[in-house]
Amino acid sequence: MELKIKNVCCIGAGFVGGPTMAVMSKFCKEIIFNVVDINQKRIDDWNNEDLDKLPVYEPGLKEIVSKTRNENLFFSTNVKESIKNADMIFISVNTPTKKSGLGAGKASDLKWVENCAREVSSNAIGHTIVVEKSTLPVKTAEVIQKILNSANQNNKKETSSFDVLSNPEFLAEGTAIKDLEYPDRVLIGGENKEAMLALSQMYQNWVPKKNILFTNIWSSELAKLTSNAFLAQRISSINSISAICEVTGADIREVSRAIGRDSRIGSKFLESGPGFGGSCFKKDILNLVYLSEYFGLMEVARFWEEVVNINTWHQSRITKIVVEKLFGSISQKKIVVLGFAFKANTNDTRESAAIKICKDLIMEGAELVIHDPKVNSIQIENDLQVKPSSENYCQDENYINNQLGKWRFSNNLNIFENAHAVLVLTEWEEYKSIKWDYVVKKMVKPAWVFDSRSIVNVDLVKKAGFNLWRVGDGIQKE
Ligand code: NAD
Ligand code: UGA
Repeated sequence: MELKIKNVCCIGAGFVGGPTMAVMSKFCKEIIFNVVDINQKRIDDWNNEDLDKLPVYEPGLKEIVSKTRNENLFFSTNVKESIKNADMIFISVNTPTKKSGLGAGKASDLKWVENCAREVSSNAIGHTIVVEKSTLPVKTAEVIQKILNSANQNNKKETSSFDVLSNPEFLAEGTAIKDLEYPDRVLIGGENKEAMLALSQMYQNWVPKKNILFTNIWSSELAKLTSNAFLAQRISSINSISAICEVTGADIREVSRAIGRDSRIGSKFLESGPGFGGSCFKKDILNLVYLSEYFGLMEVARFWEEVVNINTWHQSRITKIVVEKLFGSISQKKIVVLGFAFKANTNDTRESAAIKICKDLIMEGAELVIHDPKVNSIQIENDLQVKPSSENYCQDENYINNQLGKWRFSNNLNIFENAHAVLVLTEWEEYKSIKWDYVVKKMVKPAWVFDSRSIVNVDLVKKAGFNLWRVGDGIQKE
């Protein structure tokens, strides 16, 4: 029997739930998509008439939302009602690392997923396909199924039955819409062929059939964690090699280019940077570490844990270099920080390398002026856990005796006056066209550019008279 999906509910209107359902609503016009969340502010933002105020910034997103919102895509806090009406429910809630209790610091906190399963269990009517969209530890589907199965024991008037599928999301932030519209593959894990086919039918509205893979449910859950672990591992690998480049005279860009031409290695994800950020790499690897430890696979656990350790070490290494190059002290020195998002084209700062690096620089006494075209001051304050200071540092008398540094935010690039250094942390396009010959005149000499993203034009920066440090560059001399 072919199951035809007419009404979809997505629980969780975050960086995944919002864009994913927007793209589905574009390609599956005959299906109603209700995206629900317990966060009223987030829902209000999704419903904002001003499309520049959507809670997630992704190139191409607002154009889709403008066409499908209130046509077949709806954002609301009507969780119960939407569950009742749905024949397919995506669980797309957050699964952060546990902060306390068993497995703290490594295991995923499944409290939000469990709450969703209970909500679905109590409110669903008839047969419902429940799809894991969140990234989950292997075997979570079993937990979800058990909670769902308890539905009919809860004195419910209507009977209900469920199939659980795993359909992990592989989108990357900043390219979410492109990734969703042209996915390398769509992965569907499950046991019930009809349910798997029903989900596959939806994707086939825009994804070629050959790109839709079916696996068992545990393979699907594990493939998602493994995919992120492999990607993060490449970044830690290339960042570790960048440190060798700096002491040997090799250049990481040349090394990346050379190894990337080996088709077995491939050229993607070989860009050395300030260390990987984002909400998922660290959490998903630590999840894998926890899983390995749980099954007594200690060597496997240590192998993956080192990917995270190298990343943290690499971030500290950048702070150390800035301090060393500025004559061993950055106390009361103004440093312009370009970029705070964990990568370009997103307003997301979760686990951004900028958080640790800026905190460390403030601890060293620096005065930071932080610019980012999409991240705001409130977000930066939340991340740094330090209040911004007044605009004019020099007149702040309290500052003189204060050992700690400070920071302020700027939404424009008129910020180089009296700065000792510029530190590039996010590869925003607009930083590529900075007029370095103009900027250098405003700065204290010797003026430094620290480029952790390899985006500045080396010739122009050097011609302007800057000292330049680039990640993984052993050739450059002061
Ligand atoms: P997010 O924090 O941006 O969004 C999650 C949303 O779920 C929040 O708005 C929260 O209020 C809502 N929520 C939590 N419990 C709820 C409940 N019981 N009912 C209704 N709403 C509830 O998280 P995200 O970045 O969208 O990630 C979601 C999942 O997708 C995570 O498991 C993550 O690992 C995975 N993932 C994320 C990305 C990414 O790029 N961010 C990519 C692939 C996979
Ligand atoms: C990553 C994966 O790429 C997605 O496939 C996955 O779905 C997602 O995690 C998830 O599960 O959340 P995302 O974190 O959004 O996506 O962004 P990436 O492009 O992977 O970048 C992650 C971090 O690595 C960024 O800080 C980026 O600057 C850094 N990076 C990336 C490098 O330093 N060098 C590179 O070559 C590539």
